[in-house]
Amino acid sequence: MALLKILHYPDPRLHTVAKPVTEVTAEIRQLAADMAETMYAAPGIGLAATQIDRHIRMLVVDVSEEKNSLLTLINPRLLLKEGESVREEGCLSVPGIYDKVTRAEHIRVQATHLDGKIFELDATGLLAICIQHEIDHLDGKVFVEYLSRLKQARIKRKLTKQALEAM
Ligand code: NI
Repeated sequence: MALLKILHYPDPRLHTVAKPVTEVTAEIRQLAADMAETMYAAPGIGLAATQIDRHIRMLVVDVSEEKNSLLTLINPRLLLKEGESVREEGCLSVPGIYDKVTRAEHIRVQATHLDGKIFELDATGLLAICIQHEIDHLDGKVFVEYLSRLKQARIKRKLTKQALEAM
C-alpha cells in the first residue's frame, strides 16, 4: 500500500479527460487500494484517479461515518439523474475551499467492479453528490468551475499563493 500525491487546483493536469479502463488487472486493483488508502488518510469521502495524476476512469468513495462502506467504481456511467439538490462541497484538490453546488438528488450509475463484473447502483443524498463530483473529475472538471468567474479567480489566486508559500 502507498499514499499517493494529490494534485491541487489550478494544476492543468486536473483538466485531463480520463480514458476507460480496458481490463481490471492486478495493477488496477493495487491502484484502487492505494487510492482508498490515500482518500482515508487525507481524510476525504471520494477520490478520482485524475486527482492522483492517473488518467483512467476509476474512482473510490466512502461517505459512511464508520468508514466501512468503500465503493470502487470503474468506468462509471450515469444512467439516470433526477431532482435537484444544493449542497456545500469541498475537494481534496481544492484544500480549504467549500461552496454550494447544484446537482441531481438521485442518480443511477453503471460501473465495473474490481472483480470485473458490471453492476448498477442507485444513490441519493451525499453518496449521489459525491459520485457526481468524482465523475466530473474523470471528465476533467473541478467543482469550482460551477462557481462564478469572480470566485474562481479568487480561489486560483489563493491556492497559487499557498503553493508558493509551501515551497
Ligand atoms: Ni474533488
